[in-house]
Amino acid sequence: MAHQVLDDAQAVKDFMTLSPVRRLKVMVVGGAGYVGTVTSVGLACLGHHVVAVDMDGERIRALRSGSAPYFEDGLDALLRRCLDGGTLRFTTSLGDVRHVPDIVFITVGTPSRSGGEIDLSQIVAVAEDLVQVINGYTVLVVKSTVPVGTIDLIASVLSRHKVEGRDFDIVVNPEFLREGHGLTDFFYPDRVVLGGTSARARLLVRELYEPIIARRVAWNGTARPGDEPVPVVETDFRSALMTKYAANAFLAVRVSFINEIAGLCERFGADVRDVVRSLGYDPRLGSGYLNPGLGFGGPCLEKDLQALIKVAEQFQYDPKMLRATLERNDRQISELVRKIKQMTGHFLYRRIVAVWGLAFKADTDDVRNSMSLRLIRELESEGAVVQAYDPMAVEGARTAHQGPRYVDDPYAAVDGAEVLVVATEWPEFGALDFDEVKRRMLRPCVVDGRNALDRQRLLDLGFQYVGIGTA
Ligand code: UGA
Repeated sequence: MAHQVLDDAQAVKDFMTLSPVRRLKVMVVGGAGYVGTVTSVGLACLGHHVVAVDMDGERIRALRSGSAPYFEDGLDALLRRCLDGGTLRFTTSLGDVRHVPDIVFITVGTPSRSGGEIDLSQIVAVAEDLVQVINGYTVLVVKSTVPVGTIDLIASVLSRHKVEGRDFDIVVNPEFLREGHGLTDFFYPDRVVLGGTSARARLLVRELYEPIIARRVAWNGTARPGDEPVPVVETDFRSALMTKYAANAFLAVRVSFINEIAGLCERFGADVRDVVRSLGYDPRLGSGYLNPGLGFGGPCLEKDLQALIKVAEQFQYDPKMLRATLERNDRQISELVRKIKQMTGHFLYRRIVAVWGLAFKADTDDVRNSMSLRLIRELESEGAVVQAYDPMAVEGARTAHQGPRYVDDPYAAVDGAEVLVVATEWPEFGALDFDEVKRRMLRPCVVDGRNALDRQRLLDLGFQYVGIGTA
């Protein structure tokens, strides 16, 4: 089953900025990572000259040949456009960078150590390498999500050889890109946050983003020339960094909150979908990011919460609410397992459970910290045989966890199954032939972990159906 993706030719034809920009010379360090690639391609599309540097030779080779190492709708098409147009280059070596950049983006990964604190070794190594690149005034833009002290650390490394304010300045410019919607979020941000003491540096970064801020970018059928400019929040770097952590923490709070409410709805016979609909009319609350499910997964939310908790501890500050958000998230999988067991008479040993959806959410092939894989491990630990399918993430899942029988077809996944679990909200699941699904299952039972299917239709077809937060 092919996932519907943006048509490549259309994605390229569609892209335009509505008037030219002053072309700046940009270097993106960590340019083969997710944020680095989207940033590099996005800036090159605006007409800037971009060199993306990354030590991962395999990824750089793939990017040079016009193919991103992960799925992101429209990315390959724009990547090829920029490569053909000569505005984007990829290299593994800083020594290979021919021009002195006006702006250097730092987008390297910030993995967590086992205790939850952020490992800053990559960032420090980058700062050391950048000493050889800075020659004349250069603005360093930190996009990686890092604790507050990191900026002082970068500045102190550079200051051994260069003078802050004369040779370089630092601007913190957090990213708010969602995987699967990264380019849309890049070209149409809700806000741009620029943190740092130097007005000169902030002005240069504003200039870099000018077509975006003035909404002069048209891409993928979206042009908003009539809209107000994108709000730009200029602040100190601490507040800019905290904005990023606060945004992800708040998103996590919303997910844990709605999963809590969903659990309550189930227990006293309410329907969480109607509750969310009603909440949404109150502008103080809104309905965004209130879909109950398996809990929040992926590479960012949990990691950033843990980092924030760690930092709070270092200041002897007890972040109760952040801790509770994480704990509530960890509990959600057992809620799912309980529902699945109810359908199988409380035993899972040798029972076949079909799982649709392996990515940590729809529209991505990313299985990092996927709640679906966590659920599968839990089911396997109780003896269940799992048959798993995803439109895009089977390969990644197989590498991450070898337990299930992986299949390339959603119908094959339900063969002989006693329960079907929907673990990722891929829209195409709703369009499948449920007569066929029913024929292939041993018993027609569905646990819809994302409220993604049409409950009434399944009940009419004779399925037993349980969603999240619905009676
Ligand atoms: C998140 C943020 O949304 C981005 O703004 C941020 O830039 C990014 O982290 C980052 O820090 O780099 P992302 O991890 O791509 O983006 O994923 P989300 O779309 O936020 O989803 C995260 C998890 O929450 C997924 O497992 C998703 O299924 C779950 N979720 C989300 C829900 O269970 N319910 C919702 O209503 C929304």
